[in-house]
Amino acid sequence: MKQYGYFDDDVREFVITDPATPWPWINYLGSEDFFSLISNTAGGYCFCKDAKFRRILRYRYNGVPMDSGGRYYYIKDGDCVWNPGWKPCKTPLDRYECRHGMGYTRIIGEKDGLRAEAQFFVPRGSRCEVHRLRLTNTGAAGKCVQLYSFVEWCLWNASTDMENFQRNLSTGEVEIGDRILYHKTEYRERRDHYAFLGANRPFDGFDTDRDAFLGPYNGFDAPQQVLQGTSGHSVAHGWSPVAAQRFDLNLAPGATEELIFVLGYVENTPEAKFSAPGVINKAPAEAMLRAFDTTEKVDAAFAALRAYWDDLLGRFSLRSSVPELDRTVNIWNQYQCMVTFFMSRSASYFESGIGRGMGFRDSNQDLAGIVHLIPERARQRILDIAATQFPDGGCYHQYQPLTKRGNHDIGGGFGDDPLWLIFGTVAYIKETGDFGILEERVPFDNQAGTEVPLLEHLKISFSRVAGNLGPHGLPLIGRADWNDCLNLNCFSDNPDESFQTTENKTEGSRAESLMIAGLFVAEGKDFAELLARPEVAAPEAEVAWVQEAVGRMESAVKAHGWDGEWFLRAYDYYGRKIGSSENEESKIFIESQGWCGIARIGAVEGLCDKALDAASKYLECEHGLVLNAPAFTSYIKDYGEISSYPQGYKENGGIFCHNNPWIIIAEAMAGRAEDAWRHYCKISPAFAKDQSLRKVEPYVFCQMVAGAEAARPGEGKNSWLTGTAAWTWKTVSEFILGIKPQYDGLLVEPCIPVRIGTYRVRRRFRDAEYDLTVRLTGRGGSFRIPYRPGFQALEIEL
Ligand code: BGC
Ligand code: NOJ
Repeated sequence: MKQYGYFDDDVREFVITDPATPWPWINYLGSEDFFSLISNTAGGYCFCKDAKFRRILRYRYNGVPMDSGGRYYYIKDGDCVWNPGWKPCKTPLDRYECRHGMGYTRIIGEKDGLRAEAQFFVPRGSRCEVHRLRLTNTGAAGKCVQLYSFVEWCLWNASTDMENFQRNLSTGEVEIGDRILYHKTEYRERRDHYAFLGANRPFDGFDTDRDAFLGPYNGFDAPQQVLQGTSGHSVAHGWSPVAAQRFDLNLAPGATEELIFVLGYVENTPEAKFSAPGVINKAPAEAMLRAFDTTEKVDAAFAALRAYWDDLLGRFSLRSSVPELDRTVNIWNQYQCMVTFFMSRSASYFESGIGRGMGFRDSNQDLAGIVHLIPERARQRILDIAATQFPDGGCYHQYQPLTKRGNHDIGGGFGDDPLWLIFGTVAYIKETGDFGILEERVPFDNQAGTEVPLLEHLKISFSRVAGNLGPHGLPLIGRADWNDCLNLNCFSDNPDESFQTTENKTEGSRAESLMIAGLFVAEGKDFAELLARPEVAAPEAEVAWVQEAVGRMESAVKAHGWDGEWFLRAYDYYGRKIGSSENEESKIFIESQGWCGIARIGAVEGLCDKALDAASKYLECEHGLVLNAPAFTSYIKDYGEISSYPQGYKENGGIFCHNNPWIIIAEAMAGRAEDAWRHYCKISPAFAKDQSLRKVEPYVFCQMVAGAEAARPGEGKNSWLTGTAAWTWKTVSEFILGIKPQYDGLLVEPCIPVRIGTYRVRRRFRDAEYDLTVRLTGRGGSFRIPYRPGFQALEIEL
């Protein structure tokens, strides 16, 4: 069982000790509008605001070798050329270490008595990556070495950059200073932004044309100029612009040289674009470089970044008897929630940054992971999302972060989407007490003049689903519900059609979803509670309208959604059951067990307990609960994409980690601590033992881990950008540790095995700070803490 690294919790880092990880293990830099992906070999790219439209560095998907492109530093020491991060030269190093921390990455490489320490981060309040490179001669003799920086520019639109070569190969333009190399493609016309790579000292040579630097037939692993120890002083005109600076360094024994690089992005106002005809206004770039051009300035910026994360992660911290749990709660789960909130599903090593925008349902769910950390940003996000809703309560399935406009290509029609707006808003208000958000005026489809209070958007969200029912009184599924791949109105036999956007048959469709039914009941109860709050004081008739709709739905589920041992998943177009013991394949699905369980439908009759038992019995495997079982063995046109995946992967029998928390929460609501805990540990990366098998980063949750029926069960995919982050956070903080934000305060209601003993949670909540010591006695029950600003230490026995 080969291991590639370990956790260093005291400094909140994961330490990678072997660069040849089974898949690039990445980190994210940035927390405002400039973001970077950086792998353990310094691969990756950065962008400002939008991964598609404002891409700064070029990156090669499907590259061979994998993870091609990044910020590469080359060291030429005599005849030996190497990189601190091992790639791209892959010269064997004497020592390698990569530390991924909160918003920064440090890579150390050592070779032949030379140590290179590279620190990468995006300073708060800036639009740049800072790279601090420290070279130390650890040997006994003096050294004469050359250091090269290298990045390849993307021509801004990451999509056309990969397609439109007839244009691209002619448009590239650069400018050259003595410390800074500028990339200004298309600045002459409609763009008023450029990028640059600067250093805090003049360079001894440069290149800006890729082929001149690498040599026309060389890869990143053998740049001709570096091998020769020269620079071509090339000026890019079209083709592929790059920035490569050369520094000739003399290092006495024991001496250290520190160089600071700034990889930045500048937006000028249209009036201040040029300093002379055709010459870009460089003042902002120079100022950005000056802001970080000394050790002291970089130290201060780095300290500020640390302080930012200390403060954030100080809002919820845990001390328990289980180190894996503490590590997940205190560090990596919250960190992943932040990243997922910022990126949505756009840019990772599984998401290209050019495909999807921000998902309506995804973004609402992501809120649950960050409302306690960055409530102001959650507030803005809710208003942005609501503005992509249609007057009839439907909504765009996605919107673009740069424009905040709904995405026409995908459109709407996903049956569950509107309900998530209630979910996100309730999570936000319970955390912040900010009922004022409900009065914010928000337009429909971003059309000025159509504004209504946010509360109205919630009402039409609810009524949209309430009024869109099928023959069993259950919600119509539309293109799909949460499971994007259960496409019951698609009927596609054309491989060129998208499962998500094709509805070949809808007329007379009877396809209904039990997942939406459960979600509707759960969110409907929350919505009724919200409406009845004194701060909202909705008319009684409105509250009753919601409650009655919820009651009718519960009855419909009990009458038509129970299969005898578990909840059905759906009715198809023809009104036939899906997820029933009557089916040949996929007799049981996870989503309806989770959501009907959370909604407590039929709990008194024992339905929830039975459904949860069935989930454990039929869906649980070594690495978690699979989505459906047994998986589909062939494509079924009536069901769509779900059956397109080989057994055990993704939505067809994969462990789709996003939905495991629904079961865990339902278990906790049913008071079944052992089951909840077991399921939680199985999907939590900190508990996973075999890094090679898992393949992806051991410090973050995956969207999917291959299920029992897969060829390689336990192999993880789609790490980082997944609703799993927010859902596991909600699960562990509110349901396992049991610290539940309520409108009036906190409710402490744990569901965790008694053997965990005593744990301590430090929790900031609005203007209060609580130091809670929870002693588990086995008695159970809950403890209510009314909100009161200020500090309170409490010992609670439950
Ligand atoms: C994936 C889903 C995803 C959907 C939408 C499908 O191929 O399996 O997980 O949500 O595409 O992009
Ligand atoms: C990933 C998507 O981002 C999410 O919206 C969806 O619910 C799941 N896949 C399940 O299909």
